[in-house]
Amino acid sequence: MTLKYYTEELKKTASSLAQSGKGILAVDESTKTVGKRLSSIGVENTEENRNSYRGMLFTTPGLGNFISGAILFEETLFQNHPDGESMVEKLDRLGIIPGIKVDTGLRPLPGADEVETLCSGLDGLVERAADYYTQGARFAKWRAVLQITSNGCPTKLSIQENAWGLARYARSVQESGLVPIIEPEILMDGDHSIERTAEIQEEVIKEVYHACQINGVLLEGTLLKPSMTVPGADCSETASPEKVAQMTIRTMERCVPASVPGIVFLSGGLSEEAASVYLNLMNKIDRKANWNVSFSYGRALQHSCLKAWRGNDLIAGQKSLIARAQANSEAAKGIYIPGSQPSSDEALFVAGYTY
Ligand code: 13P
Repeated sequence: MTLKYYTEELKKTASSLAQSGKGILAVDESTKTVGKRLSSIGVENTEENRNSYRGMLFTTPGLGNFISGAILFEETLFQNHPDGESMVEKLDRLGIIPGIKVDTGLRPLPGADEVETLCSGLDGLVERAADYYTQGARFAKWRAVLQITSNGCPTKLSIQENAWGLARYARSVQESGLVPIIEPEILMDGDHSIERTAEIQEEVIKEVYHACQINGVLLEGTLLKPSMTVPGADCSETASPEKVAQMTIRTMERCVPASVPGIVFLSGGLSEEAASVYLNLMNKIDRKANWNVSFSYGRALQHSCLKAWRGNDLIAGQKSLIARAQANSEAAKGIYIPGSQPSSDEALFVAGYTY
């Protein structure tokens, strides 16, 4: 039951990822999703263009001062930068730990509501994780998705299945030396209140740790990647940033064991500025547990960077990326001054978003 190998290494990797003032850059968009991003700036979705975009990100001078790890899509983990060096070597040079998305996507969940899904990819995962380790990855990500609806979602079935999948994944990749980032995302789709989000999120996260217990997951060698506790995107009542921060921390304190070294939030469609402001306020609240509270943003780190890069402006792209990375690093310490770094206020929420 207890993990036999890699125990010390997993703890060490997890605490490096969760070091104070640093967060994670999520660049693990599937080929289809990155295609949508590239088409928004008029760039064709070819391997060459994906390579030059991600190569630009991974050679940003000083990025490692703010970013501890980068989550890659499989293609990137095995890819060389246009200059011939591998992408993994590029990240190593910046002191950034390479990670890998290991789930193989969402599938309909038979027996549940039609919007509900399970996350696939458990078959052969221990072996796949070992190959990723050999290639240089030291952590992994698996994203389970739950949705709140007025007709009873998430169902018990969906909560159980997704929590179990996350725990099975976590244990499987730990067997091969990768730190699992456990990501139970609650979508912003819907008109539910922030209180309803908190209630559901508590139920989901508690179930996740219950399943981790049964699977013998080494909690000190994991990170949690939750969504923030926000109202549904169509809720008639907006919540102040202070309220979001307070409700999110309350939710975490009610469910996340103190042995977990770090909580790294996803941005989930929040604007770049909101993602920084909410995180900053969370880090101003006195907390009961010692976790590092930080970020693992995709859209909220890349949005203005992508627009500035526009397919070939390396310097402008890197400048925008470092600005958001620094802002979020400050937010992870509770010292971010809103508006002190260029950012976008554009809401990045897309209903029915798929990764
Ligand atoms: P967003 O920050 O864009 O939600 O992406 C983070 C992520 O990795 C979702 O799986």
